[in-house]
Amino acid sequence: MPRISAQQLRSKYLNFFRSKGHIIIPSASLVPENDSSVLFTTAGMHPLVPYLLGQQHPGGKRVTNIQRCIRTGDIDEVGDETHNTFFEMCGNWSFGDYFKKEAITWSFEFLTSPEWLGIPLSRLAITCFAGDDDAPRDTESAEIWQSLGVPEHRISFLPKEKNWWIAGETGPCGPDTEMHYWIDDGHEAPAIYDQNEPRWVEIWNDVFMQFEKKTDGTLLPLEHPNVDTGLGLERVLAVLNGQKSSYDTDLFAGMWDVLALDQDIMSNDEIRKARIILDHIRAATFIVADGVEPSNKDRGYVLRRLLRRAMVMARLLNLKHHWLNALIGQVVANYAKDYPHLVEKSERIFAVIEKEQKKFEATLEKGLREFEKLMQKKGEIAGKDAFDLYQTYGFPWELTKELAEAAGQKVDKTQYESEFKKHQELSRTASAGQFKGGLASHSEKIVRLHTATHLMNAALRKVLGEKVWQKGSNITEERTRFDFTHDKKMTDEEKAKVEELVNGWVARDLLVKKEIMPLEEARKLNAIGVFGEKYADTVSVYTVYDPQTNEVVSREFCGGPHVEHTGIIGKFKIQKEEASSAGVRRIKATVG
Ligand code: ALA
Repeated sequence: MPRISAQQLRSKYLNFFRSKGHIIIPSASLVPENDSSVLFTTAGMHPLVPYLLGQQHPGGKRVTNIQRCIRTGDIDEVGDETHNTFFEMCGNWSFGDYFKKEAITWSFEFLTSPEWLGIPLSRLAITCFAGDDDAPRDTESAEIWQSLGVPEHRISFLPKEKNWWIAGETGPCGPDTEMHYWIDDGHEAPAIYDQNEPRWVEIWNDVFMQFEKKTDGTLLPLEHPNVDTGLGLERVLAVLNGQKSSYDTDLFAGMWDVLALDQDIMSNDEIRKARIILDHIRAATFIVADGVEPSNKDRGYVLRRLLRRAMVMARLLNLKHHWLNALIGQVVANYAKDYPHLVEKSERIFAVIEKEQKKFEATLEKGLREFEKLMQKKGEIAGKDAFDLYQTYGFPWELTKELAEAAGQKVDKTQYESEFKKHQELSRTASAGQFKGGLASHSEKIVRLHTATHLMNAALRKVLGEKVWQKGSNITEERTRFDFTHDKKMTDEEKAKVEELVNGWVARDLLVKKEIMPLEEARKLNAIGVFGEKYADTVSVYTVYDPQTNEVVSREFCGGPHVEHTGIIGKFKIQKEEASSAGVRRIKATVG
């Protein structure tokens, strides 16, 4: 029996913060509402951004919850001891109420008090923000920790990469202080924390949100500083129970049995593959429950990738029985009490995932036959063959590699990758050509509308805020149609303001320039683009700017073409503003 179960930990956390005047709020969906700056909810603070920026929360100034999250940035690390794509984050928030002193004091009490988690102080180390041009060294937090009894030598100061938090490129942010737990029972924790020592595991992060980062990179101090914290449920559960990884906790109870696998007799590589299956199917179950279906785009693509990767791993582990439905059933059972929506949606979850399995299995079968043929004919698989298998049959690289290895062969990965690149470039040129052809057959009016659309995008972000993201656009001879994220109808004043801004920029006859640059550089310059696009390493960026002052009015990733100066656009007018879909508005506009 574990010392503490997942359910006990969840309720301890919530009860503790309720006793400190917090209202318990439910976990939001994994699919962010009214926010397309991320595909999935990646942290507890994500659904709370409007309140961190000053809007009033109906629950008041202190809230707490356990938020389900998905992070796929580290997907290649999944299978090791600490990475999961799905995880739960326990959090407590102050919206302009308490700040460092209370947040740190409560973190300390929850972690160390015998009434709560009772972690010995000797197992904890703290890191604080070291300071830079944006914000000073956070000696204040360090002093609070010390006043509570944390020895000075267990408090380190680290730079922005470690002790500063922001959810993406822009939004609320600030310095943070992190708590780390020493996991090695056999050895005393060293006096000083070392960020490269894997036996120090980060368990909780208290973020002091004092700024809002704007698209041009400036940090605006927030009127009311906030607290945002995140305690990783799976990690804390594992360390408190002395388990090596989250896969050994009761969150995964019964799942190893469903796979009919016994970790004690498996190689490390087999364990890694099995963990990938467990992680990905758990994540997929939750993602489908929140309404996503497999597809080739955005969230649907992430889901498809998770499911297909799990299926590839199952094949590599030679799982022959019907493991998938049983595994989904186990996930639903393990989480049923805290996430009853999984039970309500279970029929749909089974149906959606089974459909994807059938589809992928057919692909795999064809690929396997082709693989066999190639082996018989040539006795080996070249990197190019691996790419062809992928391209024609969707046969994943990992599978080709493993099958070839089983036959005593190595496949040239560099060749596979270079084929991949070549193909990407070809399809890019093809679509660029298409675009050009399309536009060339139209008039100069379309080009003017195209630049007007960029200006409108910039104006909308000024008038409605930087949560506006383009969702799509379509330009004909008559008008531009532009879809963007915004959760309510625009007022007449807002529409007039957008028109006024665009017409002002047109009247100033600003210059438009096109530059080709590395994607990284474009991102640094805060170029915006259609969310969800996969960009190449080198991109084309259009900037509308004032040559006298160098003021940049708009900067977007775009293939063009555009006018050379805004004066020739003509008078810009919004014809219609209407709802397009949930959280998305649509504008139709003309130029005269
Ligand atoms: N938002 C902070 C994090 O995710 C607490 O670490």
